[in-house]
Amino acid sequence: MAQLVADEKNRFTDVKVHRDSMTHLDAVRDLNRRVFGEERLINRMDHDPLIFLTAHCNGQLAGFKIGYALNRRVFYSAKSATEPAFRRRGISRILMDAMIHDTILLGFQELQYDTFPALYPGMMVIGFKYGFRIRCLHWNPDYGDFQVRMARELQWPVIK
Ligand SMILES: CC(C)(COP(=O)(O)OP(=O)(O)OC[C@H]1O[C@@H](n2cnc3c(N)ncnc32)[C@H](O)[C@@H]1OP(=O)(O)O)[C@@H](O)C(=O)NCCC(=O)NCCS
Repeated sequence: MAQLVADEKNRFTDVKVHRDSMTHLDAVRDLNRRVFGEERLINRMDHDPLIFLTAHCNGQLAGFKIGYALNRRVFYSAKSATEPAFRRRGISRILMDAMIHDTILLGFQELQYDTFPALYPGMMVIGFKYGFRIRCLHWNPDYGDFQVRMARELQWPVIK
């Protein structure tokens, strides 16, 4: 891997966020397969609006975040992941900032996502840092974990 520039907090400083990332779909599917062990990215890609963000370091896919509207008020972040070699360098924060920015511009008032705290603890920690709160939860026997719905009002500035 090419040498990456990191700032004093070990964050990558040269991260590019792409919107409308269909051109990176194959690389995203590959990352999705390796991280989640499933072929399914999300059930449908024909949502309107669909927000499909990818983060790139030195031209390499570092992470993705994809979501769609649940209704006119609520946007749902359906799936996100960071390439293992790029973790704990702020990639997920950058993608969360971009999704919050874009959903506010689109006029949504709330952002939600589901997570599985035992399986993916990081996503829950990020949520709390961003001011998300637990909306509801239930036991999901398919995952052997609680499925937790996180929700946060959309307003400037981003809370971290
Ligand atoms: C969760 C995930 C997306 C985080 O991506 P990331 O790019 O490493 O996250 P960031 O570097 O932006 O982390 C931001 C903050 O979140 C928290 N965080 C991130 N990963 C964490 C972990 N594994 N455990 C605890 N806290 C974590 C930290 O507070 C971190 O800030 P810090 O590094 O200053 O301490 C990544 O670990 C991943 O892809 N995991 C597997 C897939 C997954 O969980 N997807 C979400 C399913 S709901």
